[in-house]
Amino acid sequence: MNALSVIFIAFAYIAFSVFIFGVLAKIWKYATTPAPLKIPLTPAPTTASGVVYRMLQEVGLFKSLFYSNKIIWLGGYLMHLALAVVLIKHFRFFFNAVPAAITYITTFELYIGFIFLAALLFLFFMRLIVDRTFFVSIMSDFLILALLIAIAITGIITKYYVRTDIIGVKSFIMGLVNFRPEAMPGDAVFITHFTLVMLLLIYFPFSKLIHAGGIFFSPTRNQIDNPREVRHETAWAAKG
Ligand code: HEM
Repeated sequence: MNALSVIFIAFAYIAFSVFIFGVLAKIWKYATTPAPLKIPLTPAPTTASGVVYRMLQEVGLFKSLFYSNKIIWLGGYLMHLALAVVLIKHFRFFFNAVPAAITYITTFELYIGFIFLAALLFLFFMRLIVDRTFFVSIMSDFLILALLIAIAITGIITKYYVRTDIIGVKSFIMGLVNFRPEAMPGDAVFITHFTLVMLLLIYFPFSKLIHAGGIFFSPTRNQIDNPREVRHETAWAAKG
């Protein structure tokens, strides 16, 4: 195996470890942070099943964003939807037996990479153009979008313009998954795509991308609005 493959195999394992342990550490922190006050954003559900329904609407439809800004909702929703399809299409690299439904999806040419890229560019320029959004944006907001844009562009080039050795990609990824590393396809565009994805994995737990898990721990969204019906006492107060 050549030196380049060895370096990238080590890089991939480091990136995945940082991602997994970083996300778990963040979730642990969110789960153990006291939430001593009842602060659900009203109108809020008064039952546990209502909270589940509210969360499903937030996660599945971005309901709050829809009511606050329809244009950004459209861009954001499209971007997340396209990302989900792109990731589902990538499953074939990670599993030997891919479920029939997923194989079926991949038989359609959805130009999903282009939709993903267009939505990202839209969100990037909205941040620049709309005064209020620009005012609350920090460098990392642009950095994450730029990183995703670069991943999308290199993915699109790999798929449509400078084909990589797909069989080679599959055995490289399966080798990583099964802890029996194999050589990496050596073309520049795939190497760039892969490197950017590894950087994304490393950055994920420390960036706002962690909202993917963090949203479930948001007290304004996950609390039941029952302060008048039920005595609310935190564990530490109950002990004292
Ligand atoms: C280790 C992880 C990854 C590997 C090995 C990988 C590899 C590839 C390969 C080989 C292609 C070309 C597909 C084809 O020819 O059918 C591709 C396309 C693409 N990749 Fe990735 N990728 C990875 C992760 C990601 C991630 C995390 C994203 C998004 C954040 C992404 C976004 C894209 C996009 C947008 C395309 C364009 C193709 C399309 O329209 O389906 N990739 N990737």
